[in-house]
Amino acid sequence: MVYESKHPLVKHKLTLLRDVNTEPKKFRELVREIAMMLCYEATQDLATTPRDVTTPMGQADGVTLKEKIGLVPILRAGLGMVNGIWEMMPSAEVWHIGLYRDEATLQPVSYYNKLPTAPTVQVCLVLDPMLATGGSAIATVDILKKWGAQRIKFVGILAAPEGIEALQTAHPDVAIYVAQIDSHLNAIGYIVPGLGDAGDRQFGTG
Ligand code: PRP
Ligand code: URA
Repeated sequence: MVYESKHPLVKHKLTLLRDVNTEPKKFRELVREIAMMLCYEATQDLATTPRDVTTPMGQADGVTLKEKIGLVPILRAGLGMVNGIWEMMPSAEVWHIGLYRDEATLQPVSYYNKLPTAPTVQVCLVLDPMLATGGSAIATVDILKKWGAQRIKFVGILAAPEGIEALQTAHPDVAIYVAQIDSHLNAIGYIVPGLGDAGDRQFGTG
C-alpha cells in the first residue's frame, strides 16, 4: 500500500520545505509539521480497546490505544520527524537506527543499533524524510523484522518511484506513507526535484 498525501496543508508546507532559500530552523519546523500530518494518516488503523470515561456530565463510551508503538528514526534525517509525532503519542518508544549511504555505491552502511533482544512494541513506524533508492528503508525493515517486529509502516516525506518499487518488492507488507512521489533519481542517487540533502538541510551541515 502506498499513500501519497493530497492534503493542501501538506502540499503547502512541502513547497516551503523544497525551497532552496528555506533556512535550517524553518526546515526543521516543516519536517516536524509534515511528519505529524503523515503520522495521522499512518495511524488510522491502530487497534483500540473500549474504555468508559466519566465526564463532568456523566458517562461516555471511549477507547484507549491497544498496541505499543515504536518510532524508529533512521539517523540522521529521520530525527527531525520524531518529536512532533512523539507529542501526539507520548507513550511511544523511540528506537534509533544509524545508517548512512555510501556515496559511491549508494548502499546503506549500518553504524548504530541498540535494539534489545526481544521486541518491545507491536507497531513500528520507520521515520525517514527521503526514500531514494530504498536501500536505507529496506535495511531498517530487515533489522526490525529480524528483531521480531510484527507490523511495520514507513513514513517519509519525499519518495522516488525507484525507492517505492524497491521497498515494495523487498517488503510488500510494509505500507508506505509519503507527502509526495517525485519524478526520478539522478545519477548520484538524489531525488529530483526533491529538496536536496535532508540531513544537511536540517542540521546546517551542507
Ligand atoms: C539519506 C536519507 C535516507 C537515505 C535515503 O540519509 O535520510 O536515510 O539517504 O537514501 P536511500 O533510499 O537511497 O537509501 P544519508 O545517507 O544522507 O545520511 P544522513 O541522514 O546521516 O545525512
Ligand atoms: N538523501 C537525501 O537526503 N536526499 C536525496 O535526494 C536522496 C537521499
